[in-house]
Amino acid sequence: TYIVNDLCIKCKYTDCVEVCPVDCFYEGENMLVIHPDECIDCGVCEPECPAEAILPDTEPSAEKWIEFNREYSEQWPNITRKIDAMPDADEMQKVEGKFEKFFS
Ligand code: SF4
Ligand code: F3S
Repeated sequence: TYIVNDLCIKCKYTDCVEVCPVDCFYEGENMLVIHPDECIDCGVCEPECPAEAILPDTEPSAEKWIEFNREYSEQWPNITRKIDAMPDADEMQKVEGKFEKFFS
């Protein structure tokens, strides 16, 4: 499966949603996640994300996001169409430690 990490927070460009063949993205207030049981590992979303927030779960840095994506994909609504990025998305893309700063 692929996962979304905290680089998505307060960016939400949603280019990923447009290309996913199985519509397995779920939308929280500040970020998206992928449902790990629905993702078919096609990989097409990874290069579409301007924030580089999408990784295969085989990446060492992805490990801590697997359960996070599972947990929230079961709580948040499905998103299947691109929407406007969040205000200041381009500025927020440069911020580090977004999970600690913004996720609540
Ligand atoms: Fe969707 Fe493919 Fe990305 Fe999985 S890897 S979330 S199936 S586009
Ligand atoms: Fe987030 Fe990147 Fe998709 S910023 S909404 S994972 S295109």
